[in-house]
Amino acid sequence: MDKLLIEGGARLSGEVAMSGAKNAALPILCASLLCAEPMRFSNVPQLNDVSTMLRLIAQMGVTVTPGGEDGLILDSQGLDNPTAPYDLVKTMRASILVLGPLLARCGEAKVSLPGGCAIGARPVDQHIKGLQAMGAQIRVENGYIHATAARLKGARIVTDMVTVTGTENLMMAAVLADGETVIENAAREPEVVDLANCLIAMGARIKGAGSDNIMIQGVERLHGASHSIMPDRIETGTYLCAAAVTGGQVRLTNTSALYVDSVLQKLREAGCQVSAERDAIELVAPARLKAVSIRTSPYPAFPTDMQAQFMAINCVAEGTAVIRETIFENRFMHAVELIRLGADIKIEANNALVTGVAHLDGATVMATDLRASASLVIAGLIAQGETLIERIYHLDRGYERIEQKLTSLGAKVSRVR
Ligand code: EPZ
Repeated sequence: MDKLLIEGGARLSGEVAMSGAKNAALPILCASLLCAEPMRFSNVPQLNDVSTMLRLIAQMGVTVTPGGEDGLILDSQGLDNPTAPYDLVKTMRASILVLGPLLARCGEAKVSLPGGCAIGARPVDQHIKGLQAMGAQIRVENGYIHATAARLKGARIVTDMVTVTGTENLMMAAVLADGETVIENAAREPEVVDLANCLIAMGARIKGAGSDNIMIQGVERLHGASHSIMPDRIETGTYLCAAAVTGGQVRLTNTSALYVDSVLQKLREAGCQVSAERDAIELVAPARLKAVSIRTSPYPAFPTDMQAQFMAINCVAEGTAVIRETIFENRFMHAVELIRLGADIKIEANNALVTGVAHLDGATVMATDLRASASLVIAGLIAQGETLIERIYHLDRGYERIEQKLTSLGAKVSRVR
């Protein structure tokens, strides 16, 4: 298994381009199941999760053709196997996003229940409840969701909590349903809006995406379209944290400050100067950050996917920070690894108390999930000496060419096979 070797101490500086958003690409690739005409995608990130999703869709009978720079053409005219097998779903929970489109397009779906994962149980009861409200017959047996529906019917759905992929699954199911669907308590994440924009380009009738109340008027069929994946706001926040903690100065391009207000606000509170242009963000960091407390919440509040990265930068900041994780029940796995590097962190239930120390010391640490591994990279950049991060397949799921991008900013990072 690959490892990442980091020699701490380099101050990050320079310019690097961000990639397309993983959490927009995954649902949007599933939208291609909804119509029998080719879909053209650009700015698709080259990530393991994206290739897993493409393998999953291809085994259903969809043809996948590379289409130029970061481009893809998906044609689901030949879709004849509405099944998502366990061996693929167990490696990527987002596979659940095929359930809504398959039901809408084929009237049936057999999708392996996604197992839990490191950060929590992550059930899909809201996805199932919403589809049942639209008339789907669903039974769960032998680890699979078996769903059928002659034609889904529009319904008013209120999810018990804000769920990003739940909202996305129900929106994709609703675009071909008979009648109007209203999703209340909907997720407001920008990736939901990007998916809605792609569906609208395919002929769907959707209003209110980005608000907590989304109205979808079902249509008979959708047509092919082209769509460029929105920039990755979590990759953007991750590189801003890496620059901030090393006292660096960076310019991130092919991104947008539109969707990271809560993160930029916290970086300014920590002492950084942050300026935003239409498709670029510049950050100038102080010699040492001030500790900033955070509380994760659904968009537009502070994103849970940036919690681990902010824990890392707080490890060497001046003062004490309280980090409260309200979305997932077990998303502090990175804390024990950061403590191995010398951090002072106390965990109590879903709160972490981080007291900044003068410096961290390199060590061998283990990645446990995608964003936890990002926090270990950030810590390794400022730890004295060498840090070796094991199990970085987690990292490769969500960060395209991370060692190349960090090296281009002056970091001393190399992949050890
Ligand atoms: C999406 O996961 C993202 N993944 C996650 O990013 C992100 O952390 C999460 O949203 C929250 O923003 C993708 O978009 C592919 P949820 P999702 O449904 O949709 C509970 C990353 O690092 N819940 O919004 O699975 C759930 O357990 C990943 O890129 C139910 O109880 O998250 C959680 O506590 C990690 N029942 C909360 O709701 C359900 O049916 C929010 O989960 C659905 C969710």
